[in-house]
Amino acid sequence: MRLDKYLADMGFGTRNEAKKLLRSKAVSVNGLLAKNGDMKIDENNDVICVDGEQVAYQKYVYLMLNKPQGYVSATQSSVPTVMDLIQEKFRDMFPCGRLDKDTEGLLLITNDGPLAHQLLSPKKHVDKEYYIELEKPATEGDIQAFEKGIVIDGGEKCAPAVLKIVDGNSCTLVIQEGKFHQVKRMFEARGNKVTYLKRTRMKNLVLDESLEPGEYRYLTDDELVGLKESGN
Ligand code: URA
Repeated sequence: MRLDKYLADMGFGTRNEAKKLLRSKAVSVNGLLAKNGDMKIDENNDVICVDGEQVAYQKYVYLMLNKPQGYVSATQSSVPTVMDLIQEKFRDMFPCGRLDKDTEGLLLITNDGPLAHQLLSPKKHVDKEYYIELEKPATEGDIQAFEKGIVIDGGEKCAPAVLKIVDGNSCTLVIQEGKFHQVKRMFEARGNKVTYLKRTRMKNLVLDESLEPGEYRYLTDDELVGLKESGN
């Protein structure tokens, strides 16, 4: 890997910023001053230091984004994507799963393909929790229908889901699948309509409410350990 890419990937700004850092003589490779960004390094064995501090190689990066409305969960599109909200140095990452353009809330952005696969595989039954506002209040009948597994348009049967009424027209729902527009279609099948949808949890990972829509942060070590644990 090129040294400037390594520095950019490890959080030292864009490749151009990494080059500036190299010119300022702040970087060493195996104890020797390194000034050229195109120098090839072995990220698994070489010791890279910036200002005398070792910069350990991290293959994967994990970000929690509070997705705002108006962005699609894709890496490329003619309309704004969630990746437009993320600094350029993280652009080789991707959103783990999809939220509709008008859905807000928790979205994991990572470059860890194997973990994303684990979290998204229908066989793994990973919990996804949503906060929902509806046109009409949810009912006991909805709770029971979702618990049994509701059939949505097109004849698809959903796995059992747990609905809790919060108050008035708001509720929470935990599903373990990710069918297209699933939450909206589940309520449509009950003659209701979702007017606001926000994902608040995926497995153990709870949306950090201090993140404003559009803001993101690195996952903590504990959050990451929880995401990698078996179970849902
Ligand atoms: N269900 C939906 O209907 N939309 C989402 O964005 C996520 C779940």
